[in-house]
Amino acid sequence: LVDTIIALLVGYLLGSIPFGLILTRLTGAGDLRSIGSGNIGATNVLRTGKKGLAAATLLLDLGKGLAAVLIARHLLTGNEGIAALAVVLGHCFPVWLKFKGGKGVATLMGVSLGLAWPIGLAYAVTWLGVLAISRISSLGGMCAAVIAPVAAAVLGYAPYVPVLALLALLVVSLHRENIARLRAGTEPRVGSKK
Ligand code: G3P
Repeated sequence: LVDTIIALLVGYLLGSIPFGLILTRLTGAGDLRSIGSGNIGATNVLRTGKKGLAAATLLLDLGKGLAAVLIARHLLTGNEGIAALAVVLGHCFPVWLKFKGGKGVATLMGVSLGLAWPIGLAYAVTWLGVLAISRISSLGGMCAAVIAPVAAAVLGYAPYVPVLALLALLVVSLHRENIARLRAGTEPRVGSKK
């Protein structure tokens, strides 16, 4: 039980570090909250025009998801599923930002990779594939999140299916505004000015 509580706490605290916000503030790249979608993720950091910062945000948000799962596996006798849930919840609902955080796509990529690399690979291929074809970040992220539990089921990681299905639901539901824009045909494409 103690290990489960530690996995929850460490996962949540790691997840709640808003790297996008911190990096853009530190470098004076502007206030993410008043740019583009107002989101704190790498896609919105890219809208500041700083590609390096966006890449760093992506890697750090991914890294904290991966780290939470690996810490649970190697230091806490299991509890990877709990850590996976906690780190994405921390990213999406950070106490430091009045629970208004990101949408979980990059952190869930790290979680998938940590749970089992083939799931991470399926996630990455889906994300990048849809992004390359559509150039719409939110669409790629949502497709990848939905693929994760399917990949877990198909590739022989059945124990991870419930947690990944729950996280897919969470990620898609946090994209409500993106879905409305997608349906209206107004969701911006990566690299375009709008
Ligand atoms: O990871 C968030 C991404 O899927 C969408 O970001 O800023 O376009 O809402 P954004």
